[in-house]
Amino acid sequence: MQTQKSIVWRAWGWLDGRYRLTPLISALLHVEIPRSARTYYLGGITLFLFMVQAITGVLLSLYYQPAPSAAYDSVLFIMHQVNFGWLIRSIHAWGANLMILFCILHLLRIFFQGAHKAPREITWAVGVLLLGVTLGFGFTGYLLPWDQRAFWATTVGSEIAGVVPLVGQKLLIFLRSGPEVTARTLSRFFGVHVLVLPATLLTILAVHLTLVHQQGLADPTRPVEPAEGTTSAAGQEKKDLLPFFPTYLLDEVIAWYAMLAILIVLASLFPAGLDEPADPLRTPEHTKPEWYFLFLYEGLKLVPRIVGVTVPLVGGLFLLLLPFIDRSPQRIPRKRPVAITIGVATLAIIIALTIRGWLS
Ligand code: HEM
Repeated sequence: MQTQKSIVWRAWGWLDGRYRLTPLISALLHVEIPRSARTYYLGGITLFLFMVQAITGVLLSLYYQPAPSAAYDSVLFIMHQVNFGWLIRSIHAWGANLMILFCILHLLRIFFQGAHKAPREITWAVGVLLLGVTLGFGFTGYLLPWDQRAFWATTVGSEIAGVVPLVGQKLLIFLRSGPEVTARTLSRFFGVHVLVLPATLLTILAVHLTLVHQQGLADPTRPVEPAEGTTSAAGQEKKDLLPFFPTYLLDEVIAWYAMLAILIVLASLFPAGLDEPADPLRTPEHTKPEWYFLFLYEGLKLVPRIVGVTVPLVGGLFLLLLPFIDRSPQRIPRKRPVAITIGVATLAIIIALTIRGWLS
């Protein structure tokens, strides 16, 4: 043990001497966080779920074949022949849903605590892009099993893109790699799902986490941010601060363990299923997108299509630019009645449309 330890320390000393790692590690770990900066672990859990998706996704891609003649059978093979293949696939499916859910909860916590306000405008905007990429993972991944549900949900989903004003038809052709959902769509979705989106998410995530590290977490009890060029811990007494390492990080890791346990239980009790193989000539009676797109789908049934597409697009742009539009520095919800009312009303409409879609 003693020798092992000294080997590790010697290796560390060797690297540190060459690359001056100690100041870097110290800058990353020795950060202080305001005690009242409650994050409810939501950003950290989203990060953890992304790591789970990356690991299970790589394992699945060892067996998955992105061609209509082979995709369905390769998924059957993963489920019935590969050791623990069903579990890995189910964890990936549940992980996708939970990652989207926690990303949305993280966004809501930030909005309601006013943590998106200056000086964190760019952290917020980058976060909205992360949510977009996360939804992109859900959309592209859904097609891959190439069963009836996957095929028709993608057909319907990409049709919605076709209604976007001015660029709709071009967007539809771009998404499907042609006018219909075919083998080319499957191979495009696979490439985007395993290469383009992971690379994009990793790049944007690096920016997001660097910004969070540089500014520190917002203290929701402080209506006004300390002077520019300082972190949110500036000016606070020692007793009001928590060390990121080990206290905050340990709590975070416990939350990750709990999440892993939940994932394994969900995946074991409710394993991911598979419908009949995709048949482009047989339209199923009920085609529905996944829960996170249901509100869009339901909205389209209630209003003219052009309105049903334009409103969410404008809403997305509004969300991206929110901290630049709502410029009051006030964080406490009681003192932001207009923003909170609009937020709650929007959320209520989205939940109502989702439930309506679920029940229909
Ligand atoms: C893949 C998705 C995302 C990951 C992995 C992620 C990760 C994180 C982490 C680990 C933190 C620090 C701890 C915490 O607040 O929980 C954080 C903070 C933050 N995130 Fe995210 N995030 C994601 C998406 C988003 C989204 C969708 C938004 C909002 C639109 C957002 C906006 C912010 C902001 C403003 C902060 C600073 C909060 C504060 O100072 O209290 N993030 N993010």
